Amino acid sequence: MALNLVKDVPILKGPALTMEYPSLGAPDLLRIKQLEEQASALRNSVICAFNQLLDLKDLNTGVHSTRLAEWGMRVGQELGLEESELQNLEVAALLHDIGKVGIPDAILRKPGRLEPDEYALMKKHSEYGWAVLRMLPGFERAALDILHHHESFDGKGYPAGLKGTEIPVVSRIVCVIDAFDAMVSSRPYRKGLPYEEAVRRLNEASGTQFDPVVVKSFLSFAEAEMSPVFAAAGTSVSSAL
Ligand SMILES: [Fe+2]
Repeated sequence: MALNLVKDVPILKGPALTMEYPSLGAPDLLRIKQLEEQASALRNSVICAFNQLLDLKDLNTGVHSTRLAEWGMRVGQELGLEESELQNLEVAALLHDIGKVGIPDAILRKPGRLEPDEYALMKKHSEYGWAVLRMLPGFERAALDILHHHESFDGKGYPAGLKGTEIPVVSRIVCVIDAFDAMVSSRPYRKGLPYEEAVRRLNEASGTQFDPVVVKSFLSFAEAEMSPVFAAAGTSVSSAL
């Protein structure tokens, strides 16, 4: 298993403090700028470290994870999310399944259908992810977004059964891109769905499982992006699907 260092994680910076305190002197501004850069670098390092953890558990979708985060960000920008929400979206898109490190391999890698008790344990991964990330200063909100990434738009998801806009918008976005990725990705025990079938299923569940606004936004650019994504993963669209 190769470690996949995520070097190209797109990092957003929050609004510069220097903009908020125009009366500060040059040394103060310089110090603030240094602290901002340190905080940004630390945040980036944390994201990379957790990504490596996902790789160690063989839970990453490789090249896809960064690209999926970019897709999520594009949906978020199109929906008018504020910069702070986009930062949380970036973290949530990359690390939404970090809680799976707490799920036994026998369940994670079971090729067949999970038994009810196994599925109940698998569903714990969103809570596990929240429990870990909320401990990190600056990641508290992203932790909540991760907690709710398996809620369903009609209220039939987990863990809280939230409905519609009760579900954090970041969670609604991650839910759609995660589901799409799961559908088109091949696993050792099954082939990924063709793009067209994945789109059909997204549309079919739009308004029930998925937020229709998010689905519409995602599909507006997804098709044009598919070829470069699969090419980056070292395969062609036709062989991957
Ligand atoms: Fe998940």
